Amino acid sequence: MNCGVDITRISRFENIENLDGFLNKYFTNEEKAYINSKSKSIQTIAGMYSAKEAVLKAMGIGIGSGVALKDISILHDNLGCPYVDITAKIDYYLLQKSAKEITVSISHDGDYAVAFCVVK
Ligand SMILES: CC(C)(COP(=O)(O)OP(=O)(O)OC[C@H]1O[C@@H](n2cnc3c(N)ncnc32)[C@H](O)[C@@H]1OP(=O)(O)O)[C@@H](O)C(=O)NCCC(=O)NCCS
Repeated sequence: MNCGVDITRISRFENIENLDGFLNKYFTNEEKAYINSKSKSIQTIAGMYSAKEAVLKAMGIGIGSGVALKDISILHDNLGCPYVDITAKIDYYLLQKSAKEITVSISHDGDYAVAFCVVK
């Protein structure tokens, strides 16, 4: 079992000049649909961004490993609970760890969003 944690300052997303361009670069269509359903709330964006980085940490991989943040999709069930969908690139690393499951949890308060990931 491995874990990863990440904290993100929410205000960092306040003054992004081209928010749609930013979302297109780092978030999948399903993620963008959720973000739009939350009226592009920057706390939601920050939490999901943190969750992607927490997943990378738990998997022991970095952005430089040929993996993009878009290879990790933070989705939500009908209760709002986040879960992770991954591309084959991330699945490869999961198999290397003989792991089968990735779980994440997200919280935000004030100017910070935090996410925790467990891979087992
Ligand atoms: C889950 C809950 C307690 C979080 O409340 P909170 O302390 O105000 O919010 P936090 O800032 O700590 O966390 C918010 C994030 O929790 C996650 N979340 C939302 N519902 C969730 C749920 N049912 N289970 C787990 N995580 C949830 C989301 O990522 C959310 O971020 P988003 O709104 O930007 O998408 C609240 O949303 C709730 O009461 N939901 C309905 C009841 C429920 O399903 N409870 C299950 C608890 S395990």
